[in-house]
Amino acid sequence: MIRKFFRNLSSIDVAIDLGTSHTSVYIRGEGLVYKEPSVISLRDIGYKKSILAIGNEAFQIMGKEPQGVETIKPLQGGVIDQLEATKAMLNEIAKRTRIHRFLKRPRVLIGAPYSISDVERRAVIDATSILESPSVTIVEEPLAAAIGADLDISESIANMVVDIGSGITEAVVISLGGIVHSESIRIGGDAITESLVHYFRNHCNLIVGERTVEELKPGLCDVYGQFEQSVTVKGIDVHSYLPQTRQISSRQVKDAILGPVSAIIRTVRQMLENTPPVLSGDLIDRGIILTGGSALLQNLASLMEASCGVPVKIAKDSAGATLRGTSRMLEEMEVIRMVSA
Ligand SMILES: Nc1ncnc2c1ncn2[C@@H]1O[C@H](COP(=O)(O)OP(=O)(O)OP(=O)(O)O)[C@@H](O)[C@H]1O
Ligand SMILES: [Mg+2]
Repeated sequence: MIRKFFRNLSSIDVAIDLGTSHTSVYIRGEGLVYKEPSVISLRDIGYKKSILAIGNEAFQIMGKEPQGVETIKPLQGGVIDQLEATKAMLNEIAKRTRIHRFLKRPRVLIGAPYSISDVERRAVIDATSILESPSVTIVEEPLAAAIGADLDISESIANMVVDIGSGITEAVVISLGGIVHSESIRIGGDAITESLVHYFRNHCNLIVGERTVEELKPGLCDVYGQFEQSVTVKGIDVHSYLPQTRQISSRQVKDAILGPVSAIIRTVRQMLENTPPVLSGDLIDRGIILTGGSALLQNLASLMEASCGVPVKIAKDSAGATLRGTSRMLEEMEVIRMVSA
């Protein structure tokens, strides 16, 4: 079955990573043509809604919408939450990247979480129908991330990958080119962002937008609360509604982010506890590879290592691993042969 699946990829033209926070598109022979936030702004023009902006532009509008404009994040928890908005976003991406100029009816390879339900899987196929593709192939995101992290997934030795994105964390054990064991939780970077928004409001009397928090996260969040410097947080005072700034340190927000971080680590522990002994020996030697943007959370890897008792490494360009894996499946036939042998 694996062999047939990968043989079919030889005729695929477009790879898509439809992530909760970012959507990326890769066209065979062209390379990466699009990587922007999964956001769409719609203007209500009475009888229908027109697209005002997508991607970076829509992300900039988020939280500052004038009357009659709404900004939507159509994916939540790693899956499609608003189908029509997702279709509109993909249609606009297709126009911008001129997919149809290169390819009239492109064949599409799209990543989706391993743990999605049949209904969620159908939504991915339905959303992609906007590209007028004669065939849509879904690839499991953690498997693609493993290839993107340069793991030789065709080996009989087990590899463990934990993909920590915005909306979902998936921990999988891979052996002989397939996922043999998995555990997932619909918690990722978005839950950390939400916890910070609540913390600023409840403990600092400051209303701070999601977009601002996203930008602050790399310089503020450290699971051990060790960053020396504090950062300037701009927001609105909850009482006076006037603009205010506060100096906030990573030590202050440590407890706020610990809830989602603990849930992620518990998922990985559960995965290790439920892995058959015949595979766990390999995992002790090889350790865990982290992919996804939230793997970059400061000291998360060392906290996970201490909690799980196995070595933990972060993949190079962890946020790009899924798309790198899917695009390698299109471009490098030897990778396909390797996993389909
Ligand atoms: N340096 C960093 N520190 C903390 N978080 C980070 C950092 N860089 C990126 N992130 C977080 O990574 C997340 C985005 O990761 P990624 O691009 O893998 O998600 P996604 O693929 O869109 O989501 P999903 O796979 O869950 O659908 C965001 O929540 C972002 O805040
Ligand atoms: Mg992802």
